[in-house]
Amino acid sequence: MSYLSYFAAGAAVAAILVAPEVALAQNPDRRAAELLRKMTLDEKIGQLTQIGGLALVPDPLTPEQRVHNAQAGSILWLSDPVSVNRLQHVAVDQTRLHIPLLFGLDVIHGFKTVFPIPIAMAASWDPALVERAQAVAAKESRAAGINWTFAPMVDIARDPRWGRLIEGAGEDPYLGSAIAAAQVRGLQGAELGGPDSVLACAKHFAGYGAAEAGRDYEAAYIPDELLWNVYFPPFKAALDAGVGTFMSAYMDLNDVPATGNAFLLTDVLRNDWGFKGFVVSDAFAVRDLVTHGFASDPRDAAYRAATAGVNMDMASRTYLDNLAGLVKSGQIPEAAIDKMVLPILATKFRMGLFEHPYADESRMAAVLGAPEHMRLARVAAQRSAVLLRNEGHLLPLTKDAAKSIAVIGPLADSEFDLLGAWQAMGVKSTAVGLPQGIRDVAPGVRVEFAQGVEIHKTYPSMFDGLMGGPPTVPWPEERAAGEFQKAVDLAKRSDIVILTLGELALMSGELATQSTLDFPGKQQQLMEAIVATGKPVVLVLVTGRPLDIRWAVAHVPAILHVWHPGSEAGHAIADLLFGDAEPGGKLPITWPRQVGQAPIYYAHNLTHQPENQSRRAWNEESTPLFPFGYGLSYTTFRFSDLQVKPGEVTVTIENTGNRAGDEVAQLYIHQKSGSISRPVRELKGFRRVSLAPHEKETVRFPLGSQELTYWSSALRKFVEDATQIDIWVGDDSNAALHADFTVAHSTSAYPAGKPDNSMQSPPRPQ
Ligand code: BGC
Repeated sequence: MSYLSYFAAGAAVAAILVAPEVALAQNPDRRAAELLRKMTLDEKIGQLTQIGGLALVPDPLTPEQRVHNAQAGSILWLSDPVSVNRLQHVAVDQTRLHIPLLFGLDVIHGFKTVFPIPIAMAASWDPALVERAQAVAAKESRAAGINWTFAPMVDIARDPRWGRLIEGAGEDPYLGSAIAAAQVRGLQGAELGGPDSVLACAKHFAGYGAAEAGRDYEAAYIPDELLWNVYFPPFKAALDAGVGTFMSAYMDLNDVPATGNAFLLTDVLRNDWGFKGFVVSDAFAVRDLVTHGFASDPRDAAYRAATAGVNMDMASRTYLDNLAGLVKSGQIPEAAIDKMVLPILATKFRMGLFEHPYADESRMAAVLGAPEHMRLARVAAQRSAVLLRNEGHLLPLTKDAAKSIAVIGPLADSEFDLLGAWQAMGVKSTAVGLPQGIRDVAPGVRVEFAQGVEIHKTYPSMFDGLMGGPPTVPWPEERAAGEFQKAVDLAKRSDIVILTLGELALMSGELATQSTLDFPGKQQQLMEAIVATGKPVVLVLVTGRPLDIRWAVAHVPAILHVWHPGSEAGHAIADLLFGDAEPGGKLPITWPRQVGQAPIYYAHNLTHQPENQSRRAWNEESTPLFPFGYGLSYTTFRFSDLQVKPGEVTVTIENTGNRAGDEVAQLYIHQKSGSISRPVRELKGFRRVSLAPHEKETVRFPLGSQELTYWSSALRKFVEDATQIDIWVGDDSNAALHADFTVAHSTSAYPAGKPDNSMQSPPRPQ
């Protein structure tokens, strides 16, 4: 079907909707219930099963056979419309009830057009941009037949060793919630069912980011206060934005695997929050309940996951093999299976899959990597970069003055690594390298490139193969020495060096824990040798996690952190270097000095001898290298006139420099006393503003019961009575402009002293 006939069909459906009895029939929940009545137990269990579409998942039957046998409700990891349509035809034409399939894939930061990695998108502090980028990702995915993405990943991460930190929005629940909601809006569109929207999935519920020492998949131990105040809010925000599905996490939460955790999946998600969509397990996580030493065998695993609240089993076929037996033996009533199936069917109806099951192959060429998508990817990479240092205003470079530029480093021209982890599987994307980017942006400048050193992972993981990372055969010693020297020689004969160092794409993401924050390989030595040439050096950091850059901060005048910037990497970096774009991103994570400080986050509690907070270690300051929210600009800003009114805080920002630029106004609060200790600072509002030279703007932040409420295990959801609140507004979490006020009974904007049960925790299972 062509794109136009899709709309024509849609319009026809809309026309029939006028008749009330037809409107009733179109109701997805009603339609799901009607369909369910016709289904056999086996057909129901088929809908609860997601089958792997790649050879990666061993299965005696092919995906076609599984679909033909009505043993699949969804297919995982297919990414081309031809395969999608082939399987969809089997589902629609060859099964008794013609139920279409959901095709799920990890479209995390773009499909063909690759945007910066999610942590970078969060560094833009620009939810509207995040929403637009995810809308592009949705449109491209849908054109390729993908109708379900396993995004957004909304796990709070406070340990830079954890590789999956790059897939979320960082350490803060307030920023994380805003970014989570924006992603859902972008992916799902105004409502599910549009031709350019995909079903979103909030993952990994919940607490995955608290893995001990950042070791991926490891158990998390999270007390109630942290769960409710820190780890849950981005999930709740995704839910409030209408997210259609949740994914249960791999790890144990307080010794109960998240995929068998009724507290998480039923008590909180469905009973407290009223989630009406469906939960899919993480890949193989149902089967893994045995590995955890939680379930005794696969049948028990199926029982535990199903009764805890997992609707769909991703890839492990544990439901397929065991649920029918559990129903027949009476351990699970068929009515419970019905309850699991209904939201899956309703979602398929809501998405319009019964009316439009197929991918329109003819759209692909025009939609994937469309010029306007690439333009947005360039803007996104510009807006997510964070300027960490700019001594002597080395940046921006002028296009005439810098006559010869040396671009040096193993990541500067590495297409794969500039794209980042979770570049969509199955579609080949490319990134513009930095040498090319500079040539395009500043054609008058002479650019030469030398890689200098190479980087390898010590232990490659399955993801290296899966995502098509570059092969890693180390250079022989003689070649390594030669390449190093070539880079130093190039620096010597150039006017300025852009040194691009960091980590390979797959050094972060899944199964990519780091036990050190040192530059991998011989990059540190390369940096020291290049700086020793005496040439002006700009360090461009291409990395997912923060690295130990203490030496660089002491010796390199300019440092621009671009993360893994995506398809338009080279252009966007060049735009920033030459001032065609203004850096305005801010760190969504606290940047430690070294690995020994991990985990580290700004919203910690105050304790004994706070004046010695920075002197807790004997070897060096225990403060971070850069605080949460930090980022410089090529211009300067001043905050003034902080005013606190009932329900609102206002502040004036002025661009005090001679260039236009962006600033992110950030509001932090601290509760001075109360039922429990609260963090020294908590973000409660932000706004990114663009200001012309000497322009001023007054920014308003709502500050009412919603912002002041927190959760305490003694008091449930709560706003303190008559407590004092400190307020700071400024350009990072060390903001100095201060005011305070007292929460009063009488102020309706601050309803005090009354527990609000809307986010109450049910009792934990014993
Ligand atoms: C990851 C999920 C992902 C799933 C499907 C798992 O290994 O933890 O984040 O969505 O695979 O690819």
